[in-house]
Amino acid sequence: MSLKDNIEELRKTAFAELSKIVSSADITTFRNRFFAKRGELALLTSQLPSLSDKEKREYGSLLSRLREELTSAFESRSEEITLEELNEKLAHEKLDITLPGRGNSIGAKNPFYIIRDEIADIFLKMGYEVKEGPEVESDLYNFERLNIPKDHPARDMQDSLYINENLLLRSQTSNIQARVMEEKAGKPFKIICPGKTYRRDDDDATHSHQFAQIEGLVVDKGINMAHLKATLEVFAKAMFGEKREVRFRPSFFPFTEPSVEVDVSCGNCGGKGCSMCKNGYIEILGAGMVHPNVLKINGYDPEVYSGFAFGIGIERVAMLRYGIDDIRRFYTNDVRFLEQFKKKVS
Ligand code: PHE
Repeated sequence: MSLKDNIEELRKTAFAELSKIVSSADITTFRNRFFAKRGELALLTSQLPSLSDKEKREYGSLLSRLREELTSAFESRSEEITLEELNEKLAHEKLDITLPGRGNSIGAKNPFYIIRDEIADIFLKMGYEVKEGPEVESDLYNFERLNIPKDHPARDMQDSLYINENLLLRSQTSNIQARVMEEKAGKPFKIICPGKTYRRDDDDATHSHQFAQIEGLVVDKGINMAHLKATLEVFAKAMFGEKREVRFRPSFFPFTEPSVEVDVSCGNCGGKGCSMCKNGYIEILGAGMVHPNVLKINGYDPEVYSGFAFGIGIERVAMLRYGIDDIRRFYTNDVRFLEQFKKKVS
């Protein structure tokens, strides 16, 4: 067969093949077979150099005509196919906007967080700054800088999980006290610190090995017990209602002197005494005037500065606010419990 026959043969095969292509996969196969570097057109072209000048001219022009015609036919067919495929895809992906949608169900904020944020808001409005501290804390900040030396009996009430001799899961948010005093370096401040705390407690309806507190600490010149009482009164009324009264009972914490337990009058009986409160009041937090030793250890002159501190149990406040009977409900993610706190969307 002469090259001319081969060219004719190729023209027939190529156009026959072109009439068969129907998909973008076929387009690729076709392109590879005929137009590639080692494709059929190239194969014939590579034979030209061995021919005489006359044949070169004749066959050369035959070949380039074939290449041109085939290219333009192939390109227009390719475009058609691409368009067809696109149209088909669009037809399939058509949205039926008359179908009813699938509603999104919005979750509920855990009441723990609702109350944590409400408490924080109350204090933010009074000009407090929010601070955070580490949950894995050193003995130094959790105890020693709070006037609780090693072997102090007060440590018994706050046993925790120790990572090593000097590191523990903090047993109170009071660890933030020394950290903030260090940071503020002798200047006055008002902070709160919400966060998780851990104790070696057996879990029951009112105890959990993990719970949360909001620590509060104010240090300035001339701070006294009246400031503490007024502040906690503002808090209790904002949280539980205007009618609630606050009561201070003497207590003990190594880092405050004097120390108090703070009760709020029972919302159920208004302070008369009922089955919920027994004596008319319910304990909500521990507080006191910052112990001079704590000020001194942490770089404040107790002759010049004084302060108060408090530690609010967040779950406890939430339980009272919502009448929740068991602290474990905050952590066990029972949707029936959580759903009750869904915001009403009107
Ligand atoms: N840290 C104390 C506790 O967990 C509470 C407290 C904080 C008491 C600040 C006084 C001042 O029991």
